Order: sequence, then C-alpha cells, then structure tokens
Amino acid sequence: MTYKIAVLQGDGVGPEVTSESIKCLKAVGKKFNHVFDIEFGLVGGAAIDDTGNPLPAETEILCEKSDAILFGAVGGPKWDNTNFDIRPESGILAIRKKLKVFANLRPVKVFPSLINSSPIKPKYIRGVDILIVRELTGGLYFAKPKKRWNTSIGKRGIDTLKYTEKEIERILNIAFKLAQQRQKKLTSVDKFNVLETSRLWREIAIEIGENYPDVELEHILVDNMAMKLISQPKSFDVIVSENTFGDIISDEAAIISSSLGMLPSASISDLKTKNTSKSKSRLPFLYEPIHGSAPDIAGQNKANPIGSILSLAMMLNFSFGLYKESQAIEKSVNKILSQGFRTTDIASNQKESISTSQMGELISSSI
Ligand code: IPM
Ligand code: MG
Repeated sequence: MTYKIAVLQGDGVGPEVTSESIKCLKAVGKKFNHVFDIEFGLVGGAAIDDTGNPLPAETEILCEKSDAILFGAVGGPKWDNTNFDIRPESGILAIRKKLKVFANLRPVKVFPSLINSSPIKPKYIRGVDILIVRELTGGLYFAKPKKRWNTSIGKRGIDTLKYTEKEIERILNIAFKLAQQRQKKLTSVDKFNVLETSRLWREIAIEIGENYPDVELEHILVDNMAMKLISQPKSFDVIVSENTFGDIISDEAAIISSSLGMLPSASISDLKTKNTSKSKSRLPFLYEPIHGSAPDIAGQNKANPIGSILSLAMMLNFSFGLYKESQAIEKSVNKILSQGFRTTDIASNQKESISTSQMGELISSSI
C-alpha cells in the first residue's frame, strides 16, 4: 500500500521543522518497508506571495486526494498588515473547516529526561499524561456575524460564540471514547457561570455521559482550569473544550512538557484509521505541531522539530493504523532526549544546544 501525504510547510519555522519530519518519515519507510508518496503544497503567507490566496485551489485539491496532511505553521510580520481575509492564518482555518476535522487532539506528556526543563517543579509534573481534545471547527473562530465596521460613534467589531447541539455532541463523543481507552476520566471545560454556549455544552456533556457509565465526568470552569492545569496537572486524563478555550489551555499545557516546541496535534473527524474499509472515502486528517511560525527564530535552524515529528507519529497511528511505526518515532525521540541532546528552547546550557537539522538527523537516524 502506498500512503499519499501532502506536506504544507507554510511560513517561518514551518519549512524547517517539517523537513525534519520528512527525514523521519523516510527512515520509517525504509525500516518498515512502506512507500510514502510525499507532495508539497503552498499555504499561508508563502501561498499569498505566490497566488494571493492563503489556501490556493491547487492546495485544496492536493489535500483532498491525499491520505493525510502534514502541516507546518503559518503567519509572520510580513503579512500583518494585510486584511483579515487574506491573512496567512485564514489558510489553516479554511483547511480545518474544509476537511471537517472538528476534533483536535493535543497530547501532553513529560519525557522523563525533560523533567527538570519545565519551569514547574518536577514533583507536580512527573508522570503527567493528558490528552486535550479541542473543538476545532466551531465557536468564535468561525461563527457569524464576524466583522468590523464604522459607526457614527466609533469603530465596532464582533465575533460570535455559537455552538449547535450536534457540534457539541460529536466532540464529546470523541472525547468520551478516548477517555474509555485511557484512564476513564473526562474533564469538560466551560464557562457555565456566564456563557449560554457553556450551559448548553455542560447539559449535553451530562446527557452524553450517560452512555459512557465507565467514564468519570467532571466539569470545570475555564479560569479554574488555567490554574489547576499548572497546580495539579496529574489529576487530569482527557480534557475536552470548545475551540478558543482549547487554544489557550493547550499553549499553557505545553509548559508542563517544557516547551511549546514539544507538542504535536492531530485534527481528526472520527476515530477510524484510513485503511479500514468504512473510511476509504473519508477526507484526510491533518497533523500539525501546536506552535506557530515563530518569526523571531525563523530561518536560523534553531526551532525544535519534535512537535512536528511527534505529529507525524500521530499521523502514522491515527490515519494509517501503523502503531509500531508510530511507536518507533516516539521511542527515538525519547532516546535522543535521554542522551541529553537539546534544541535551544529546552536546553539549560545554550552553548551546548543543537540545531533543528541536527535534532532531526539524530532522531531519524535512530528510528
Ligand atoms: C493553533 C494556532 C492557530 C489557532 C492559529 C495559528 C490560527 O494558535 O493551532 O493553536 O488559533 O488555532
Ligand atoms: Mg494556538
């Protein structure tokens, strides 16, 4: 079987980190005898420069005919003054929506050798294993009205926080199912004391929870979550939240793992792998590190490629059911970290840090 993978590198450090993932993909192909057919597509600022559109039609077509997508990052100061419709970020938002990948899985783990690299004390984070399930195609990011306009008394802007029952149900079902495969605890994040959407969210979570009696369901207000995530991270297993809250708490959670550069993500629309007969015609899933384009260090061979490499590991597992192969990547990351190799973001001694490409080389060659 040939696996067709679209690689959308994007802007800033995106091309640098995805190049290292490609080295790992080649190493996996060689070791396990798989054919991975890689094709590149333009997205974000790079695509605006070339075509005027952050998600050109050719890229959409490429994505639709691929089995999975590896995404880098988009955005940068160069495009900060362009109008919102043609901003690089609309490229990633449009692709998430087009592929209907409403569930964004962001695992947060602590590699044992990085236990002292996080600013949080080791006793709080040793053994943390959290899965954040972020709703990805609804809420403030997409709901209408969404606009800015001038009035006689000044400028106005509006974003709409809207969720339908169906949108809430499907993300909660995924979160409950994932909790069943793990420690059977689900924490649902909301702002029940203020927001109508949160009241609906909590009501539906309780209803759906009745179908998963083996999973313990707890509810937590998002402000309280921001505190507990840092003060008691070990008390969480699966965390589910709406889009914006999930965006914010997942950056915060990255600090548990030591750096934003460490966290991968998978954006999916169901829990079946692509090669099962039922999902043959399904749109592909999207894999991307949770970090952005990091313009401050772009082009300097300094970024941490591990978030992207672990996203690739998630792809092998979730899209292709290649569990052994996925594990081989994770083991290699673990091995290289335990040998003391560090990119600047996770190094305690900057002088001894290694580059993006050196890190990718080490990880790929020990797969
Ligand atoms: C993320 C990013 C994106 C988001 C941006 C780049 C649009 O922050 O994937 O977390 O807000 O979803
Ligand atoms: Mg984010």
